[in-house]
Amino acid sequence: MTIKIGLSKKELEKSIKNLTVVLANEMVLYVKLRKFHWNVSGNSFMELHKLFESQYTETEHNIDEVAERISKLGSKSIGSMKEFLEHTTLKESDSYESQKAMLEEL
Ligand SMILES: [Fe+2]
Repeated sequence: MTIKIGLSKKELEKSIKNLTVVLANEMVLYVKLRKFHWNVSGNSFMELHKLFESQYTETEHNIDEVAERISKLGSKSIGSMKEFLEHTTLKESDSYESQKAMLEEL
């Protein structure tokens, strides 16, 4: 299918490539926010628990928008954790941090 939105084939491919990195980064961020939502503890537990929930909910919406935009540009959208980790520029959170460390990481 040819997409006619005023972009050359090269520009279209670059857009898809850039959006794929955005999608992978949003997924890593989403997982990180879920992890922090589940594992936050301490004196600001409820505030941070709710903050992380509102952020992952918003991120989930963004993920869907980006993935569907990639599809509309004529490409398959990546969808496995393996692919997300291959394309992301972010680092996963691999420890169970303090509230302060969670906020600094985000
Ligand atoms: Fe929850």
